[in-house]
Amino acid sequence: MEAEERRPGPTGADAAISSGLFSHDEEHSRELDEEAEQEALNRIILAFRDYPQSAEWEVARWQFNYTQLPPHHKALVPHLPAKLAAARRAAQTNAFFIKSLLQAFSPEAASGPLPPSSMLPHPENPEPGAGSGAGPAAHSHGHTHGLASCGAACGAEGQGQGQAKGAGRGPGDKEDGLQPVDSHDVEKVRYVLKNIARDWSAEGAAERAMSYGKILDELKVVFKDWSNPNRAPRVLIPGAGLARLCVEVAGLGYEAQGNEFSYFMLLASSFILNHTTEPNQYTIHPWMHSNSNHLSDEDQLRAVPVPDVLPAQLAEGTHGRVPGLLSMCAGDFVEVYSEPDQRGLFDCVVTCFFIDTAHNVLKYLEVISHCLAPGGTWINLGPLLYHWADAHTYLPGMELSIELSLDDIRTAAQAMGFRMVREEMLDAPYMADPRSMHKTVYQAVFWTMTKERDWEPPAAAAAATPVQPPPPPPPRKK
Ligand SMILES: C[S@@+](CC[C@H](N)C(=O)[O-])C[C@H]1O[C@@H](n2cnc3c(N)ncnc32)[C@H](O)[C@@H]1O
Repeated sequence: MEAEERRPGPTGADAAISSGLFSHDEEHSRELDEEAEQEALNRIILAFRDYPQSAEWEVARWQFNYTQLPPHHKALVPHLPAKLAAARRAAQTNAFFIKSLLQAFSPEAASGPLPPSSMLPHPENPEPGAGSGAGPAAHSHGHTHGLASCGAACGAEGQGQGQAKGAGRGPGDKEDGLQPVDSHDVEKVRYVLKNIARDWSAEGAAERAMSYGKILDELKVVFKDWSNPNRAPRVLIPGAGLARLCVEVAGLGYEAQGNEFSYFMLLASSFILNHTTEPNQYTIHPWMHSNSNHLSDEDQLRAVPVPDVLPAQLAEGTHGRVPGLLSMCAGDFVEVYSEPDQRGLFDCVVTCFFIDTAHNVLKYLEVISHCLAPGGTWINLGPLLYHWADAHTYLPGMELSIELSLDDIRTAAQAMGFRMVREEMLDAPYMADPRSMHKTVYQAVFWTMTKERDWEPPAAAAAATPVQPPPPPPPRKK
C-alpha cells in the first residue's frame, strides 16, 4: 500500500530527505534545514547500521561474564553457551530485518556511503547550528526544523529520551572514518524493534486493545451520526509512531492522517506500510537485548513474526464502505499544524501517548484547537511522562519543559474552549513484554472533548519575557 501523500510532509521515509518540511521562504534557511535534516537522517541510518555491532557487543559482554564463573558454577548453568549462540542467531535475524528496512529506503542507506554531513558535530563538541533537526541548536536559534530524530520519542520506559549529540562523519573521526554511535541511538534502534511488536505483532494485540481499541470504539461513537455524504470524517493522529492506529482509523472508513517527526519511526513505518507483502513476512526478536525479568531464555529470545496483518488489508477494513484514505505527514506537530492553512481542517484529533512529548503542553492544546473544525472532537489517551523533563541530563543547554498536572491541563483546555464529554482513567500498558516479570502499565487518562469555540490568545501575550536559565546544578560524582 502506498499511503497517499499530503502536504506538507512526505508519505513515508522515502520522500523524507527531499521534501521534509519547509516553513521558511528564504532559500538560505531552506538549505540549512535540508542540511540539518540530512544530518539527522544520516545519524539515524548509522544507528540502524550499527545494530549488528552493538548487539554483538552485548552478547560478547554476557559471554565474558560467563567465562568469569568458576567451573562449579558453570556446571550449574551448562546451557548458557547454547543460549549465547541462540542470542547471536536472534541478533542476526534482527539485523536482517533492519537491513531490509534500510534497503527498502535506499540501497545506499543499507551499505553505501552516506551523503556528506559537513555540519555534523563531534559528540564531544556539539556546535550550535549543527546536530539533529530537533536538537537544542534548532530550538535556541529559532530555526524551524522538519524531521527530527526521535528526540522525546522513547520516554515510555522513562529512558531513551532526547537527542544524541551526533554520530556520523566529521573532523576528528576515528580511523575508519566513523564516529561511534551515541548510546541513546543504540537504545532507540532496540526501541523500534519493541515498538514494532506493540504495533504490528499478534502478541501486541492485547496491549493495543487497551489503548487503540478504546480510541477506535470512541471514534465509532463520535461519528455514528456522520451525515456528510461527500467525505468521510478527517482524523489527525499526531505522534503516530509506527502508524498502526492510523491504519486502523482508515480501516473504519475515515480519512486518517498520521504525523510523526522521528526518522527512526518514519523509516520503520514506511517499511511496514509500503514494503511488506504478506503477513508474518519477517521475524524479529524484540526482547533479546536485556537479560532482566525473563521467566525463561525461550521467553527472552522468542521470535515475534511481523506484521500480523497486511497494512493494506487493514486499511480496507471490514465496514463494506469505500476504504478510508491514509496519509503520513512527517514533521514537528507544532510547526506543521499551526500553519494558517491547517486551520479547522480536521473533525477529530487523536492523541495517544503523545501530549507528554511536548516542550509546552499548552502549545499542543493550542495547535489541537487550531486544526480542529468548530465542534470537532479531541480524543486523548495516555499518561503524563514529560519527555523533556530530564533533557538537561543529556543535552547541552536548557530545553523548555512545561510539566503540568492533569488538573491543570484539563482546566486550561476548558479555558481554551474545549468541553469535556467523557473522561475515565484506565490501565494502559506501553511496549510491555507480555511474558516479562516487569511491565510498564500506566494509569492513563482517556478523555473526549469537543471544541466549543475558537481559542484566540491575546496578541499582547504572544511572547514570554526572556530570563536567564538557572545555573547548572552543582557537580556530582560520576
Ligand atoms: C510515546 S510515542 C507514542 C507512539 C504511538 N502514538 C503509540 O501509542 O504507540 C510518542 C511519539 O510521538 C512522536 N513525537 C514526539 N514529539 C513529536 C512532535 N513534536 N511532532 C511529531 N511527533 C512527535 C515520537 O517520535 C513518538 O513516535
